[in-house]
Amino acid sequence: MEYLTSEELTFFKRYGYLIKRRALDEGLCERVLDRMWGSAPASVHRDDPETWRPIGVEESSDDSLLLHQGTRWQLRGASTEADLIDLMYSPQLVCWAEQLLGVGTLRPPVKGGKPMGSWGPAWPGGPVDPQLGEGVRGIYATLPTEEPAQRLQDRLHTDGHPFHLGVVGLIDHCPEHGGGFKVWPGSHRRFYPLFPTQYDQARIPFYPHMPSFKGLIHPPEYLEEVDKVEADTPPVECFGERGDIVFWHHRLGHMAGHNTARPRAIRQAVLYDFCKTDLDQMRLTPPHEDMWQDWGEALQAAQAPISAQFAAEQRLPLALFEGS
Ligand SMILES: [Fe+2]
Repeated sequence: MEYLTSEELTFFKRYGYLIKRRALDEGLCERVLDRMWGSAPASVHRDDPETWRPIGVEESSDDSLLLHQGTRWQLRGASTEADLIDLMYSPQLVCWAEQLLGVGTLRPPVKGGKPMGSWGPAWPGGPVDPQLGEGVRGIYATLPTEEPAQRLQDRLHTDGHPFHLGVVGLIDHCPEHGGGFKVWPGSHRRFYPLFPTQYDQARIPFYPHMPSFKGLIHPPEYLEEVDKVEADTPPVECFGERGDIVFWHHRLGHMAGHNTARPRAIRQAVLYDFCKTDLDQMRLTPPHEDMWQDWGEALQAAQAPISAQFAAEQRLPLALFEGS
């Protein structure tokens, strides 16, 4: 087993993300990839990149267990299958997550349990809640867009459901600009204090006869900070090779990257949320003075210098680099 170094733990605290390369089992990646391709839209062929295009309206489906819509192809129905759970809840990933969150504190996923998407979206047209699922989030593919890159805007968000630590794992090569997960380094420290409770975003119920007020309530201070972060922080794109993962803090600003890759490529990833067993109690409290209070001792204690070389390996923009 490999352990995260003090430098890696410090980097995660400061910037809210940590890339680990070749962290997933190769054979499992291949099997999960095969599983995904078994759910491909009829017009998208694995051996013909020319067919890797946005899904047309006639082929679209908003089934929350298998979404086919535009550039999004998301297989959630498989999210509690053994291969997916073994891939993301592997002894190595659990070891790292326990360094971050505390040994023996993680809530394990349930093989054969209810997949994310079984309950449908939070409101008509709204997102599916990842907390309503007992496995990984699913296999998320982003097809290449036909939109010109200059027309595509980056827009960050933070997730509205309670969890502790996200992880996105690439199950195949993902080139730069190929739809890799994008993160805004350091934004977790700015967003964390701005919510009434430390893990949730407040929600308002949906009523069909009053459709204009629904979904998540964003505090005005949060919306202002989103604009500021987008203006002053260049995002990091987590492209990479099969098996590369990125850990990210639950309040980190992020987005699913646009896929403008040419030659055409499909971003194929599995997403998982690590949660602690006492999340139900922790989510009752407002943000703590020390935002790492609920986290593991190894993470809390980490206070190492960060080398310029390590920051570069993490693709941290130079303007954001603080060595110690
Ligand atoms: Fe998100």
